[in-house]
Amino acid sequence: MLSRKPPMGFNTWNTFGEKISDSVIRETADAMVEMGLPDAGYEYLVIDDCWSLRDRDPVTGKIVPDPVKFPEGMKAVSDYVHSKGLKFGMYSCAGTRTCADYPGSFDHEYLDAETFAEYGADFLKYDFCYKPQSANGPLLYRRMGMALKACGREILFSACNWGCDDVETWIRSTGAHMYRSTGDINDNFRSFKDIALSQIDKLAYSAPGCFNDIDMLICGMYGSGNVANGGCTDEEYKTHFALWCMFSSPLMLGGDLRKLKDQPFILNLIKNRNLIRINQDEEGRPAVAVCRRDGDRVTFAKHLSNNEIAIMFANLNDDDGNCELFFDELGITAAGGYGLEMTECFTGENIGVKKEYMKRRIPAHGCEVFICKLSK
Ligand code: GLA
Repeated sequence: MLSRKPPMGFNTWNTFGEKISDSVIRETADAMVEMGLPDAGYEYLVIDDCWSLRDRDPVTGKIVPDPVKFPEGMKAVSDYVHSKGLKFGMYSCAGTRTCADYPGSFDHEYLDAETFAEYGADFLKYDFCYKPQSANGPLLYRRMGMALKACGREILFSACNWGCDDVETWIRSTGAHMYRSTGDINDNFRSFKDIALSQIDKLAYSAPGCFNDIDMLICGMYGSGNVANGGCTDEEYKTHFALWCMFSSPLMLGGDLRKLKDQPFILNLIKNRNLIRINQDEEGRPAVAVCRRDGDRVTFAKHLSNNEIAIMFANLNDDDGNCELFFDELGITAAGGYGLEMTECFTGENIGVKKEYMKRRIPAHGCEVFICKLSK
């Protein structure tokens, strides 16, 4: 089964935008392996928009890879990615044009799915720009979902309609394995905070087989790249990554992975075993906001397998302050006599067994995340 756990990998858009090429992809594949990312779970390398010429081939009707960006074609790139033990992802759009105005797959769904299968694609991100008036989202995603099933290759279907048209209510029925439930991220605190808070009421729709995708990660961009917009501090990237893990979002890295060897903080963050364990937990249960104070100091809880529970104290306010937890809200009653033995995910510190109520002082834009076990 595809997408039994939130998919993990890399996507070109956040850093490279239209500046993608054969060498960018090969160098990124090399960096992924050198930095040990496959061992941490990252497996897909996805090429986003801007990989083709502006028009289809007039004879075959196929989309044509840009010969300047990809002189050896897409199959050669795909073969290289596969030779590194990674999986290869492509991009298209449900409308007549992609968001950056390259050919979209509308009315070419079956031909394009076959073309992606010929490339050896394992993943397709499918956008929503230039949708004809006559068609709607369910129809268009159903079409490509079916075309992918018919194409003879197992391809993970990543829908991207930015959370429009009540997508959470119909997307699973199209065969999609993940779906964007938000607008586009850019590289600053306000952007990822707004995305996270906008998702609280949608978390329950995320489940094994089809996960809510809250967009590609910005960790390590530091204000440069295609979606750069001021950048984040390390503390903010930590909160960003932890929120994506708690929310069971696909973890699609968006920074320039070739720079990771000079970014030890980011490398440690995106390989943090505890956070990835929370994200990849086999039960795939959604997080829930259990306590929200003073605006945006939020405590999240997510049940894990083996009777563990993850708790995140996220201070999304602009000043330091307390995040709270009333154990009663988790179903842990005072009369029952139980508390939680709590181990912090970043420091590894075991803070012992806590009961009934606790608060943690969290710096502005910061967080703590605990993996907890019921204990007397
Ligand atoms: C949309 C998507 C982005 C990216 C761009 C490419 O905005 O939401 O993730 O794929 O299109 O043009």
